[in-house]
Amino acid sequence: MASVVIAGVGSYAPQRVVTNAELSRTVDTTDEWIVSRSGIRERRIAAADEACSDLAIKAAGAALADAGVTAAEIDLLIIATVTADSPLPSTACLVQHRLGIPAHATCFDIVAACSGFLYAMEIAYGQLLTNRYKRALIIGAEKLSAVTDWTDRTTCVLFGDAAGAAVLHKVDTPNVGILGSDLGADGEFADNLYVKAGGSRAPASAESVGARDHFIRMNGREVFKSAVRVMETVAREMMEQHHLTADHISLVIPHQANIRIIEALAGNLKIPMDKFYVNLDRFGNTSSASIPLALDEARRAGRVKPGDLTLLVAFGAGLTYGATLIRW
Ligand SMILES: CC(C)(COP(=O)(O)OP(=O)(O)OC[C@H]1O[C@@H](n2cnc3c(N)ncnc32)[C@H](O)[C@@H]1OP(=O)(O)O)[C@@H](O)C(=O)NCCC(=O)NCCS
Repeated sequence: MASVVIAGVGSYAPQRVVTNAELSRTVDTTDEWIVSRSGIRERRIAAADEACSDLAIKAAGAALADAGVTAAEIDLLIIATVTADSPLPSTACLVQHRLGIPAHATCFDIVAACSGFLYAMEIAYGQLLTNRYKRALIIGAEKLSAVTDWTDRTTCVLFGDAAGAAVLHKVDTPNVGILGSDLGADGEFADNLYVKAGGSRAPASAESVGARDHFIRMNGREVFKSAVRVMETVAREMMEQHHLTADHISLVIPHQANIRIIEALAGNLKIPMDKFYVNLDRFGNTSSASIPLALDEARRAGRVKPGDLTLLVAFGAGLTYGATLIRW
C-alpha cells in the first residue's frame, strides 16, 4: 500500500504590514471593532508591482528547499488562486517558466477560493497515486488586496496577501501523509461572496469599473453561518471515517477567516482551542494561502511531530469546503 506525503512546505508574506489603526484612518472602523468581530490585528499587503505569481514563486522556492528537491524534478504544478496575474494564461504557466519547472510538466490553476489549497492537494494526491506523476508542487497564492474595495469597511478589514506551497510525492509505506479528504461545493450559496464583473457574464467596462464591480462583495453573516456548519460537517466526516475522536487529533489548521468562526467550530467539535493553529491576527484572511501559510508556521513552531494527526479544514466562496487528514 502506497501513500502520498508532504515532503516540504514553504510560505511567503509581503513585507508591508497594515494595522487596524492604519485602516481606521481611511475607512469608518476601529481596531476594537475589527479585533472583537474578527480577531484580526494586522495583515500583509503586496507592493504595487508584486503579483500573484511573485508571491507564489517565493513560497514555492521555500517549499522546494524544505523538501530538498529542485524545480526540475516537479512534473505537476497546481496553483489555487482567485487572484491570478491575469485571466489568461494561467498563473501556473508563468510560475513554471520562472521557476524552471520542465516543459513536460502539467501546470494549471484552479479556482476554489479559500478551499483551493485542499482542492489542489486532493487532485495532486490522486494523480501521484496513479503513478502518472512523480512529484507535485501545489501552491495557494493570493493578492486579495487587488480585488478588495478599500472603501468598503465590511470587507476591507478582513483580507490580506500571501502564498503557501507544498511538495508532495508518493512513498511505498501505508498509512502516512494524506490519509483522506472530504471536499464539497454548494453553488446555492454563490451569491454570498463574489466578484460581479470581469468575467463573461459582466465583462469589464467603464460602467463596471465605475460601479466598483471588480471588487469582492460579501454577505458576512450568511458566510459566517455556512462556514461553521460546513466545516463542522466535513471535520466530523473525516474523524468518523478514520474512527478518531477529538483526543486523537494533535492539531487542527482551519482556514484563517475569523477567530469567532474558529471558536464556534472548536466548541461544536469539542476540540480545545489550544489544538487550533491561529495566525489570522497577523495575516487576516489570505484565501487559498491561509492553510499552507499556517501549516508552514505550525511546522516551524514544532507543532507537528512524527506520527501526529493534523486536520486541515477550510471553507470559501462557492460555497466550497473541505477537510484533509494528515499523519506526519
Ligand atoms: C464580516 C463579519 C466580521 C461581520 O461581523 P458581524 O458580527 O456579522 O457584524 P455585522 O455584519 O452584523 O455588522 C454589525 C454592524 O457593524 C458594522 N460594521 C461592518 N463592518 C464594520 C467595520 N469594519 N467597522 C465598524 N463597523 C462595521 C455594520 O455596518 C453593522 O452596523 P449596523 O448594525 O448599523 O448595520 C462576520 O460576519 C464574518 O466574519 N463573516 C464571515 C466572513 C468571512 O469569513 N468571509 C470570507 C470567507 S472565506
